[in-house]
Amino acid sequence: MISVRLLTILTFWLAISVGSMTAFAQRSVSFDSYAIPAVGALAITVRTGMPGDGVYGELDAQLDGALGRAAASAGFQAQRGEVLNLRGVGVYEQIVLVGIGEEALSERLLEDIGGLVGQAGRASASNRIDLLWADSTLASAGAHLALGLELGQYRFTRYRNIDPAKPVLGKGEIVIRVADPSAARTAWTSQWQPVAEGVGLARDLVSEPANTLYPQSFVERSRKAFDGIAGVSIEVVDEAAMARLEMGSILAVGQGSARPPRLMLIRYQGGPPDQAPIALVGKGITFDTGGISIKDKQNLWRMKYDMSGAAAVTGAALTLARRKAEVNLVAVAALAENMPSASASRPGDVVRTMSGKTYEIVSTDAEGRMVLADAVWYVQQFDQPRLLIDVATLTGSQVTALGDEYAGLFSRDDALATEVIAAGVASGEEAWRLPLHPSYAKDLESPIADLRNGGSSRKAGAGVGAHFIGNWIAPELPWVHLDIASMAWRDDPPLPTVPPGATGYGVRLLDRFVRLHQGQR
Ligand code: BES
Ligand code: MN
Ligand code: ZN
Repeated sequence: MISVRLLTILTFWLAISVGSMTAFAQRSVSFDSYAIPAVGALAITVRTGMPGDGVYGELDAQLDGALGRAAASAGFQAQRGEVLNLRGVGVYEQIVLVGIGEEALSERLLEDIGGLVGQAGRASASNRIDLLWADSTLASAGAHLALGLELGQYRFTRYRNIDPAKPVLGKGEIVIRVADPSAARTAWTSQWQPVAEGVGLARDLVSEPANTLYPQSFVERSRKAFDGIAGVSIEVVDEAAMARLEMGSILAVGQGSARPPRLMLIRYQGGPPDQAPIALVGKGITFDTGGISIKDKQNLWRMKYDMSGAAAVTGAALTLARRKAEVNLVAVAALAENMPSASASRPGDVVRTMSGKTYEIVSTDAEGRMVLADAVWYVQQFDQPRLLIDVATLTGSQVTALGDEYAGLFSRDDALATEVIAAGVASGEEAWRLPLHPSYAKDLESPIADLRNGGSSRKAGAGVGAHFIGNWIAPELPWVHLDIASMAWRDDPPLPTVPPGATGYGVRLLDRFVRLHQGQR
């Protein structure tokens, strides 16, 4: 008996220590003055045509043309995003060449370069890699390289044991060498490291499986992440409070699960006390079986990431609070688990939402719009936001329409839509606007209630879902709905700053939106 117990404790301890060892197998990032080191592992960027006037030419000359010969024999053309990982060139143990084509310098390009170097560094046993950046036109260049390095190296290692027989790659450090390392360091810690942190939190939450991440544990993790940050308060609406508030809609989704629903509101006051907040509302279905309208077994595991909208708004709130953004914000996570059971909602059930509006459930699998109906209503009543953006893995139809490249954006407000699209381009998390046609209203008519929760056909599924949510948004409130079903999870191949798995999509977009919206950088 005792020995079994001891064994359990021992195994537990082992799992914990192994887990933390893996967590550190990501290279640390620091800054130093620009110089070409005499030895070691280097990473440099190369433009199309590989001109000899930059660091590439300097290194090649120093190596008596060995670099040029190696690049030529590998067919390296320096196209944007092309990476050549050379080992043992002259005195150097490694030289990573990153092509940047003919693209103009931008923050997004720098982040991609950092991401590519970070990913190349994961496959290297070099203890230290020096990333050289000679161009001093952008003072924050080093900080954007660092952001890319952090994002590109991300890995969810919590449940992985290390094989002691295998060498651990990707250990050590990456040193960014720029003209003004102290300016880069300041920009990093005050402005851009918070972005890496917010994306990291979102990715961690999304990666976590549904046996450990459910509404209440989502709340607890968020409380930990925000602990001690100035200007932040967290409100949690539990199922008893939901019943008092007559939030029939989120309750209808959660009632089939052993894990009760939660509405979490993270409020951050960084702006003038009298200024109305920006509201960010995220769909947080910690697992979506479809409920009684149960899904097919194929790819069902994916539905653990059906809380990615909630993770994105939570991550964005962390970023904004950490970088002390001068903005008032309320981030809302509408958390529930959608399960089939004896207590689950059925197709045909009629639900009364907090607003008093009723709808008929035609599919219990259209649960995202159900939790959002009460969430957006609640935040409008209690916070009177000046604008509202909701983020949701809402429909398979969005995946079909836009694939891996864009989230679907729906809005009745052209100015806000334009701003969010611009933030997407600047951040690299892009969105494409799709229509909210008035005809979608016809599709949502019910013979028994004010509305029904889905259309009669599969036509314009993403737009119909957006339109349903719009029924709980005040007509004059600037509102954007982002359907991120295709963006929340990255399958192979990786993007420079997005390894396969949880993407954290939305954090960078929302952070950038706030930066642009305030007209400050
Ligand atoms: N969570 C799904 C949408 C989804 C699909 C997210 C693929 C991520 C990847 C959502 O709750 C859902 O089931 N939507 C239905 C709506 C329909 C029943 C009106 C869909 O898109 O089929
Ligand atoms: Mn569903
Ligand atoms: Zn769903």
